[in-house]
Amino acid sequence: MQRKFNVNAQVFPADLSDPTQVKRLETQVAEIGDLEILINNAGFGVPGKFVEIQAERNAEMIQVHILATVRLCRAALPGMISRGRGSIINVSSIAAFMATPRNATYSATKAYLNVFSEALQDELKGTGIRVQALCPGLTHTEFHDHPGYEDYKRRIPEFFWMQAEDVVRESLDALKKGRVICIPGFKNRLIVAIIRNWLGALAAKALAARLRQ
Ligand SMILES: NC(=O)c1ccc[n+]([C@@H]2O[C@H](COP(=O)([O-])OP(=O)(O)OC[C@H]3O[C@@H](n4cnc5c(N)ncnc54)[C@H](OP(=O)(O)O)[C@@H]3O)[C@@H](O)[C@H]2O)c1
Repeated sequence: MQRKFNVNAQVFPADLSDPTQVKRLETQVAEIGDLEILINNAGFGVPGKFVEIQAERNAEMIQVHILATVRLCRAALPGMISRGRGSIINVSSIAAFMATPRNATYSATKAYLNVFSEALQDELKGTGIRVQALCPGLTHTEFHDHPGYEDYKRRIPEFFWMQAEDVVRESLDALKKGRVICIPGFKNRLIVAIIRNWLGALAAKALAARLRQ
């Protein structure tokens, strides 16, 4: 990677569901003297009814999506503030806009990231730092290869999916424009607009119920 992109790259592997490893990573992040961008991307889903999912998995999700993100932002920001520049992208989801049954913890953690990112950007006004909550819809990655998502690719038409490269392009464009909540793709923006309208929310619930059958 260093040679291909002519960059200085270092890898700090960490299991973000383990608070001790997150603590170590915090120190490493704080020590990077020229950190330009922090992307809190790690995430996973465990579809199913809340009471049927192991308590440990829900706690791990909160640890990875929320606690690791909050701690890494806190570690990165003092350096960014003193340099007067830097960007943070917290990878959320359009699920943040829906109280999604069978994804209760997932959608709630992503909603946290949206509100957190908006408040943080407000606090950081005038510092030269940009914060974004990136809210993709269905995107072709390995996310839906995990247990519980087997039928998503089969049942949800290709029309609703995006390529990861397109999501990244829209995210970086939105970052330049200073847009905090970035929903990539016109179709995803339309879905969110519909969900935010009560009639649309009812239709979305009916559709979700059909998908669960
Ligand atoms: N794909 C979608 O449709 C979609 C839609 C909306 C939002 N998102 C969000 O996009 C983000 C990226 O997901 P993706 O779609 O690229 O899925 P993915 O291909 O499954 O990638 C998830 C990434 O998170 C890492 N990760 C998961 N648990 C971790 C842990 N405990 N510690 C460290 N790293 C961990 C994985 O690392 P390993 O490979 O080492 O496990 C992997 O690099 C996630 O936050 C997800 O919620 C995805």
